[in-house]
Amino acid sequence: MSIPDALTEAAAPTAVAADGLPADLLVGAATSAYQVEGAAQADGRGPSIWDDFCLRPGAIVDGSDGSVACDSYHRWESDLDLVAGLGFDAYRFSLAWPRIFPDSSGAPNPAGLDHYERVVDGLLQRSLQPYVTLYHWDLPLWLHRRGGWTSRDTAHAFAEYAGAVVDRLGDRVASYATLNEPWCSAFLGYGSGEHAPGVRDAAACQAAIHHLLLAHGLATLRLREGTSSPVGIVLNFTPAYPHDPRDERDVEAARRHQVFNDEVFLGPLFDGAYPDELAELAGGAASHVQDGDLSAISRPPDYLGVNYYTRSVVRHSATAGWTCAETVAQEAKHTAMGWEVYPAGLRDLLLGLARRSGLPLYVTENGAAFDEPLADRQRWAYIEAHLEAVNQARAQGADVRGYFAWSLLDNFEWAFGYTKRFGIVEVDFGSQARTPRESARRLAALLAARPQTV
Ligand code: FCB
Repeated sequence: MSIPDALTEAAAPTAVAADGLPADLLVGAATSAYQVEGAAQADGRGPSIWDDFCLRPGAIVDGSDGSVACDSYHRWESDLDLVAGLGFDAYRFSLAWPRIFPDSSGAPNPAGLDHYERVVDGLLQRSLQPYVTLYHWDLPLWLHRRGGWTSRDTAHAFAEYAGAVVDRLGDRVASYATLNEPWCSAFLGYGSGEHAPGVRDAAACQAAIHHLLLAHGLATLRLREGTSSPVGIVLNFTPAYPHDPRDERDVEAARRHQVFNDEVFLGPLFDGAYPDELAELAGGAASHVQDGDLSAISRPPDYLGVNYYTRSVVRHSATAGWTCAETVAQEAKHTAMGWEVYPAGLRDLLLGLARRSGLPLYVTENGAAFDEPLADRQRWAYIEAHLEAVNQARAQGADVRGYFAWSLLDNFEWAFGYTKRFGIVEVDFGSQARTPRESARRLAALLAARPQTV
């Protein structure tokens, strides 16, 4: 297989170097509300688009839902003890918007805010830094019924929600992220329909892209009124490599893949403009832009959150939809998701994003699903190699400040239900027992061996 230059210049990352984790790299574990909380009806929570989507026959492979999940809503204290016991610096989790604005009444639900205040204070008491994501895909159902992300009003509702949160939690939150992976919300939620709300409509997808970005921009402004903590956004990246880097059609296919996956968000955020290619798709997100939107969206965030799991190798194909990029299967190790294990992709990505954004970077998600026993050697090898990729990117100049393992716990993996296990801690969904896997214990040992904590 032909590979891009960047890959041939440095050895592929495998294990964390003998000198271990850098003392100034913040290391945390991550979850999200719908995937772990359960307690779908507790304390006035309203339904989200995921509660509704899970009712659709065939939407979730095992017919399950997140109504109980890991029951972390009730078990938050012991879950935070677990995070602290493993020696992490930080915990990345999301707030459930439908707990805070459960219905259209306009008033925030105090019980929802109380819960997250207890969690944030509980983290601080355990010397853990709270990394809060405001939107990890669980849109309140009442907002969906008013058009969801196809409606501009949802962006304003999001800013109001951000305001209610920051007015309560303020600087106690170490770092705020507005959105998690808006690509998934727009393209999987409104394009392919694989995710909630299960819409398949290119025009709706374009509207969703713009209103998600607008929501980010408006919420950033509102958050900054209430906190001096950093405010950023979390994007997902599956960097594309040309199958044959000498074939200009494959190189172009990789470029178009990046445009429709990454530049669709990076362009408005960092250049204040949508890429031209987007207009090929149902008129493009730009057709939803009103005066002032792009300047709101392109106010620089304080950091960029980077979720990385795998890469794709692509070649030109005229029949491969708008990207003209067809994925070429690689003879390599794959996870239980069918994703190629490719740690060098994280290094290349971080170096590219450091140049593209000029911002501090956090790896806000990285991890792997494998079907293995508690001695999860494959998951550990994956994490270790990706930590080394972070080290390499830092050594080459990328300002990478943190790494979060996805996930602390086995959890509800969206359309895959409970069939894919990403946890460094195993969850028995019958008894709700948590058992740290070898990956958790090894990561804890690396953390304990650091010269000093950040
Ligand atoms: C990411 C999501 C996260 C989890 C991982 C495996 O796309 O942000 O919730 O599902 O994938």
